[in-house]
Amino acid sequence: MPTKIEKDSVTGRETTGHEWDGLKELNTPLPKWWLYVFYLTIATSVLQFVLYPSFSYGPGYLHGVLGYTTRQEVDQDVAKIVAKRKADMDKIGTLSFAQIKADPKLLEVALVDGKQVFASNCQPCHGAGGGGNPGYPALAAGAWIWGGTLDAIQKTVTYGVRSDDPNARTSAMPAFGAGLLTQPQIQAVADYVWVTFYGNKADGRDVSEGAKVFNANCAVCHGVKGEGNKLMGAPRLASQVHLYGNTREAIMAQVMGPKMGVMPAWNTRLDPATIKAVTLYVHSLGGGE
Ligand code: HEC
Ligand code: HEC
Repeated sequence: MPTKIEKDSVTGRETTGHEWDGLKELNTPLPKWWLYVFYLTIATSVLQFVLYPSFSYGPGYLHGVLGYTTRQEVDQDVAKIVAKRKADMDKIGTLSFAQIKADPKLLEVALVDGKQVFASNCQPCHGAGGGGNPGYPALAAGAWIWGGTLDAIQKTVTYGVRSDDPNARTSAMPAFGAGLLTQPQIQAVADYVWVTFYGNKADGRDVSEGAKVFNANCAVCHGVKGEGNKLMGAPRLASQVHLYGNTREAIMAQVMGPKMGVMPAWNTRLDPATIKAVTLYVHSLGGGE
């Protein structure tokens, strides 16, 4: 087929010289802008190849002139978060509870941190969400032994209860089974507490004798109405939430030979800011005063 380059009479453009059964192909070049963009992409790809990590081979890879790695970026991001957390925790350490609560962002940081601290340190004894376990008080129920204000919680957590810290909260219930009361008196007072304060049916039992024993021996700490005394850590008996369970047997056992719960001091394990954060979290569980 002869190749004849000629001008097309309609468009005025040159043909490529190809012709098929009378159809001639016009030579329409690619637009200039398109070509330059195309060359540019080739040039950038070469440049990227030189600057950034590219080929991998056997034991390693081409690192590129800039030495860039995504790991570095992650490290920087993590460092930023750690620095931010440190700044926030420093603030939480120095500000008062009222000031922290007035700053919603800071409060959020404290609650998130407190929740984590609680899950790993407190939950084994106090249960998930502070629901409590026999012998380990519920912290979400508002039935406080020592007090549910932020300051009271902070003090309990910092120094503990009957812990070996010199500032620990401490108190003792006498062991009435060791000769202070007779067996019938103990039966009677347990009946009285179980019926009157724990809210069970008397079922024909006369609890007046137990009431006398209670008022003479127990009211000094637990209050005439069983309202408890936070200064002495004497639990509220007129309640549905009890440290050692709701049964009459639990009351008997406590009167005979009291269990004295021990709560560790946390000032040796957690820094003051972290104790504040976990205090705010505990206070937020629903029982905070
Ligand atoms: C080894 C078990 C144990 C661990 C762990 C523990 N506690 Fe306690 N906690 C107790 C016991 C037992 C008491 C009740 C002491 C008593 O009989 O008065 C208590 C009492 C408390 C009280 C006082 C409750 C009230 O009614 O006044 C608070 C607040 C408290 N714990 C918070 C915490 C926090 C916060 C942590 C984690 C940093 C924690 N506890 C970890 C055992 C534990
Ligand atoms: C000196 C103060 C004191 C006196 C007096 C006292 N208690 Fe207590 N009682 C306590 C303390 C403190 C506790 C909490 C023990 C603990 O935290 O482990 C307690 C706990 C109890 C409990 C367990 C409550 C619960 O939530 O499970 C019962 C029941 C109880 N006392 C009954 C009595 C009765 C009945 C008497 C009188 C015979 C009495 N107490 C006298 C201080 C006292």
